[in-house]
Formats: sequence, structure tokens, C-alpha cells
Amino acid sequence: MGKNAVNSLDPKADLIFISGDITLEGILPEYELAKERIQGFEGLMMLVPGNHDARHLGFQLFREFFGRLEFYKEVEDIGIVGLDSSEPDRDEGHIGRDKYKWIEESLKNSKKFKIIGLHHHLVPVPNSGREQNIINDAGGVLDLVLRNDVALILMGHRHVPYAVRVHNTLIVNAGTFSSTRTRAHLGNSFNVIDIQDKSITVTAHDIEKGKEKVMVEFDKDKNIYINRYYSK
Ligand SMILES: [Fe+2]
Repeated sequence: MGKNAVNSLDPKADLIFISGDITLEGILPEYELAKERIQGFEGLMMLVPGNHDARHLGFQLFREFFGRLEFYKEVEDIGIVGLDSSEPDRDEGHIGRDKYKWIEESLKNSKKFKIIGLHHHLVPVPNSGREQNIINDAGGVLDLVLRNDVALILMGHRHVPYAVRVHNTLIVNAGTFSSTRTRAHLGNSFNVIDIQDKSITVTAHDIEKGKEKVMVEFDKDKNIYINRYYSK
């Protein structure tokens, strides 16, 4: 159902980014199933591993099935850094200072619209339970993000759609696409992010209800930031 909702988007997605946790235990049959399901999506796809994917040597399988755990790629006007925030057999998120130089060089050399994608959250996410597993060097990574004019952060892990502006960066959390670990009435969902020159609109799509709701409209040149998703 979710796959059909994504494939029937009009216009079609230029890029489908999966922010990790495509398996539960990181084991071979789960990777085989994930590969099969992911092949059903139409469009360019990028993904990073989540904490579940790294379990039980799952990080090795991730490489076999999907390629590099971390990358810098350019697609049209977008430069995207994919980061592995997982630690094998732990739920905590971590990037690590040893990667900062590579991240910063990738960002500095890019004239593109800069995006960083990772699994764990960089800032607290409301409506997702008590705070835990935020990347343990979040301050250092946030500093990198803000100093290098990153326009967009894509993350997951917390299972609820959310977005917040921090200075000129929009930080966006994806809800859970297909797991049963939903929160209250926030069912399975995915975000559609529309990037137009200097403006970004994020719309959360509820898969079961077939409904969509604009979460954030952000235009940094006009200094417009509207977030109504959780407004009563
Ligand atoms: Fe996770």
C-alpha cells in the first residue's frame, strides 16, 4: 500500500531517501525481503543503515545488498551526504569526530543544495516518547551543519513525522513507513519534500488514511517558517 502511494505521486519523486531500519534484526532473510520490496519503488533511491540494520553483523549485509554505508552523491542540483549513525548491536546513535573532516570537505566542495541524511535524530523529536538514542555527538554534528550551510537534514528512528527549523537548516524526521511501531493515531507515513529554489515544503502522507497534510513551509530568503502539523 505504501509503495503504491509513493509510486503514484504526481510528479514522481526525483529521489527517494530511506533513513534506515529496513530490517528488524539485521539478518539475511530480512535483507533479502527488504531488497525485494525496495526494488518495487520507482525512482532513484538512496538509503542509510539504522540501528536495527546493524544488528547481528547486519552492517555487512547492508554493504552487500545496498552498497556503501556512507556516501556523498550529487543528483542534479542536490549534494547529499549519507551517514551511518548506527553502532552494531546498540541502539544509540553516533557519528564520531573522525568523520567530521570528510563530512566538512564534502559539504565545502559542494555548490549544490546540501542535504545530510542519517538514521538517528540530531535534535529531540516531540510526540515520540522519552528522549533517547539521539546521536551522542549531536552538538558537534549540528555545528558542522550550521557552519556549512546545510539546507536539509533527513532522519528517522523516532517513528513520527516532524520538522523544525534551526537557523537556516530544516531538520526533518520521517514517520514509520511500514512497521507496527506507530504512535497513537500517527500511523504509517512518509514525507514528501518539495524543494523549489530557496523554499522547502514538507508534506506528511498518511498511508492507511490516504491523506496528506502539509507539515512545514520554509523559505529562508523571505524568512517564512510555518509549522502547523501538530497544531490543534
Ligand atoms: Fe532506529
